[in-house]
Amino acid sequence: MSITYNEKERSFKLRANNTDYMFKVINGEYLGHVYYGRKVPDEDMDWLLRFDESPFTPEKNNRDRAVYLDTTPFEYPCFGIGDYRESALKILDSDGMSTCDLRYVSHRIFDGKPALEGMPATFATEKSPAQTLEVTMKDAHTGLEAVLVYSVFENLDVITRSVRFKNTSDKPIKLTRALSACVEFDTDKFDMITLNGSWARERHIERAPLHHGKQSIDSCRGESSHQNNPFAALCDRNADEDMGEVFGFNFVYSGNFVAQAEVTQHKKTRFVMGINPLDFEWLLDAGETFTAPEVVMVHSDEGIGKMSRIFHDLYRENLIRGEYKDKRRPILINNWEATYFDFNTDKLIDIAKEASKLGIEMLVMDDGWFGHRDYDNSSLGDWFVYEKKLQGGLKHLVDEVNKLGMKFGIWFEPEMVSPDSDLYRAHPDWAIQIKGRDMTLCREQYVLDYSRKEVRDYVYSMIKNILDNANIEYIKWDMNRQLTEVGSAALPPERQRELWHRYVLGVYDLMGRLTTDYPHILLENCSGGGARFDPGMLYFSPQIWCSDDTDAIERLKIQHGTSICYPCSAMGAHISDCPNHLLNRNTPFKTRGHVAMVGTFGYELDVTRIPQEDRDMIPAQIEEFKKYNPLVRTGEHFRIGNMFEDNTWDAWMFVANDKSEALFEFVQVMARPNYRSRRIKLKGLDPDAYYYEESEPDKLMSGAALMNAGINCAKIWGVDGIKGDYSSKILHFVRK
Ligand code: GLA
Repeated sequence: MSITYNEKERSFKLRANNTDYMFKVINGEYLGHVYYGRKVPDEDMDWLLRFDESPFTPEKNNRDRAVYLDTTPFEYPCFGIGDYRESALKILDSDGMSTCDLRYVSHRIFDGKPALEGMPATFATEKSPAQTLEVTMKDAHTGLEAVLVYSVFENLDVITRSVRFKNTSDKPIKLTRALSACVEFDTDKFDMITLNGSWARERHIERAPLHHGKQSIDSCRGESSHQNNPFAALCDRNADEDMGEVFGFNFVYSGNFVAQAEVTQHKKTRFVMGINPLDFEWLLDAGETFTAPEVVMVHSDEGIGKMSRIFHDLYRENLIRGEYKDKRRPILINNWEATYFDFNTDKLIDIAKEASKLGIEMLVMDDGWFGHRDYDNSSLGDWFVYEKKLQGGLKHLVDEVNKLGMKFGIWFEPEMVSPDSDLYRAHPDWAIQIKGRDMTLCREQYVLDYSRKEVRDYVYSMIKNILDNANIEYIKWDMNRQLTEVGSAALPPERQRELWHRYVLGVYDLMGRLTTDYPHILLENCSGGGARFDPGMLYFSPQIWCSDDTDAIERLKIQHGTSICYPCSAMGAHISDCPNHLLNRNTPFKTRGHVAMVGTFGYELDVTRIPQEDRDMIPAQIEEFKKYNPLVRTGEHFRIGNMFEDNTWDAWMFVANDKSEALFEFVQVMARPNYRSRRIKLKGLDPDAYYYEESEPDKLMSGAALMNAGINCAKIWGVDGIKGDYSSKILHFVRK
């Protein structure tokens, strides 16, 4: 049993592998948080909970000057009752009051993990089972009921949280803040790690010590965003990749969010995560329900690296679904950076012909094949073939590509509409807008109102029409702008603020329909690069385009940051042409291959026009990818270099789960003189086993020496030193 209830203590203990999470019903029927961290014996629950320390509970001393509730560690704090820290719940009742006071009513524990209605969430499997605790709480004054849902993945140091609300009264109640999780810590000695950036610079790691007050990241853009990923970790001040205690939080949601740590007056930390309360409202009429999305909480007692590996294991087994969950993805060539909008059937077939000869397995036709789209200023919403470009139609093109032995994939941006489109001309009110206000254009497009079923149905019928008429085996689902003037022509005034969330639910609905109706299609999500690289999207698509920045050196940081909580098997990564289109940087073709091998791998260039010597390398590059991809997809990932601290080199490893082999990849960013005696310590090997590097099968090295002393860099780049900036090397270690 990973969840136990102690009747006498009225306490709950959630044990996830090496992690304990404890809380209990306390005086006044509140739910008090007790402990979260490494395993502790059951008997200790009693004294860990210091509820008889000043300020005393009201029964013990009702004359205390401090407000009891302002210092109590809570499982799910409410606004308005004297807890002045960040609350998880705030309402507006029918009298215009914002106070809410949830108290314990009942609970139940059961095997498995229920799905969240209409929303992505992790799920239990036979290999990685879960148990669930639901604690029902109620505000007697308004009749608002909240069910706190905790699931424990017993093999994984993972606990998930979400909340289900129900209005049990006959009067309306508005939720104005309905976060998914609150966790209280007895210390402020934490650093907070977040993943921040911008377009083409997604998920760069930031780390800073907590200080008094509130430190948060959020999105209010309608998507999880380039700027802040819905992830945050709190770690010991001295924690590093391999040591120290780390608590990671990731929101399984693709819209507005907040992740916030607050250091309180007594130097404790309250962490909250959920839908961003900014501009959020949700009306619950009598009997109606609302579900707050899932937060995944990972605890590691062996540093940031182990936290990442737990996230990777969880997402690979308990979040990602579909036919490609455990399969190598086809090696694709995408025409975006090859042609941009300037292509036609002949050009695409030429690319496919050359690509197929080299071993590339799928052609992906990117933006520009529909309506009358020659540039990014028209036709979104008109999902019919642009005959001027695709002479002979789509089926003809796909058939020709199939004849070459290649699969065919296609790009859509289903959530968008161009002002210059048949769709917008016919249904201007289908775009998100505020009647009478100017609409902000961004990339010359508007966002469709996905809260409306008729809008989703129409878009889906158009997509279906394309999919049913040609043999399409891959879709890139793009989303290239954020939301403004958030209003719906179809919602009543009292429900307008629900549009942010209804929009996200609409996206999930359509992705759900698509993946159910076309299970064989590989779906890759994308949002102007990596603006929606979140667990919500991973539930629908096993891979997500990491960034529009395809420069191998820039990718080192982006992929390193992404790997903090997302598995490498999900990172869309391609080899693009040089000089790189964004940076004008030249990197060796080999290095570009090694960096793309960390992810899904593919090409984003015109293979008919790249230098012959690069083209000649492709077949061997593909063989190398195929050889190592099982390790990348299923093995354990170890970060060794850290470009955020030292941007002269980077290195990482993938180690088989049974430690029988390991792939070590090294990129020298800046060549330096006289570095020959340096050592790099490997990670994750079996210390008691002996390994050889594939090129020297007779030379055995112990796992212990490889990890504790490290490999001499001469092994990586020869005695004279690797030559040149941006060069790379891989080593394959095999257990004897
Ligand atoms: C976004 C994507 C790119 C490409 C373009 C097409 O920017 O991230 O990969 O598909 O849109 O417009």
